[in-house]
Amino acid sequence: MSPVSTGTLDLQHRRCPEPGDDLSDYSVLPVPPMSIRFDQAAGTLSPAGPELTRRMSDLEGLFLDQNAWRTAVADGDPIVYSVVSSLVPEADRELPQSITTIQPGSTGGEFWMTKGHQHPNHQGEIYLGISGRGGLLMFDGTDTRWVDMTPGTIGYIPPGWAHRSVNVGGKPYSFLAVYPGGAGHDYGWVLEYGLGQRVWRQDDGVAFGGYFAEASS
Ligand code: PA5
Ligand code: MN
Repeated sequence: MSPVSTGTLDLQHRRCPEPGDDLSDYSVLPVPPMSIRFDQAAGTLSPAGPELTRRMSDLEGLFLDQNAWRTAVADGDPIVYSVVSSLVPEADRELPQSITTIQPGSTGGEFWMTKGHQHPNHQGEIYLGISGRGGLLMFDGTDTRWVDMTPGTIGYIPPGWAHRSVNVGGKPYSFLAVYPGGAGHDYGWVLEYGLGQRVWRQDDGVAFGGYFAEASS
């Protein structure tokens, strides 16, 4: 049988990972077909790739109340969220996956959230709610959208929409993300243009407000 043409794709004949393999080899291109175990209850992907932890001190300039942010940093600098990834690398044409878990909390009345970013190479992304209660905030520079995220909800982020996740519940909020590996993460975009709305804790509910502080006269 003649080999099937894969065009410009550089596919080598590599086998799928097996128990006992040195997995470090599988995060480099070309990635072989593989099975990735998604443990919904534990919020893990295995084989596991890089892991990232964001503490309060990593969120400088993001909460509206900067004094409350400084106090929270001084007061134990808590972990706000963590991201675990599979072995699929962030490379063009690949589809990496990750699970983000945001802890419950608020700072200066604003719910704990991810930094938020724009994909500099405008490409779409999907999120799947796994546990807890959260929301997906999206902003294209003009319009703002909010998608309630509960277990089983797929939130779709179209190309060109900056996005941030927010935990609006009393327990950790986790979701799975699947995104094009060449999309990139531009965090400066959010610092400059914001995300359209802020998400405030109000009594037992959620309230939305303008992103930037009103200039005092
Ligand atoms: O790819 C995504 O959009 C997510 O995996 C996020 O990177 C993750 O939720 C962490 O958010 P941020 O990258 O804004 O810190
Ligand atoms: Mn993204």
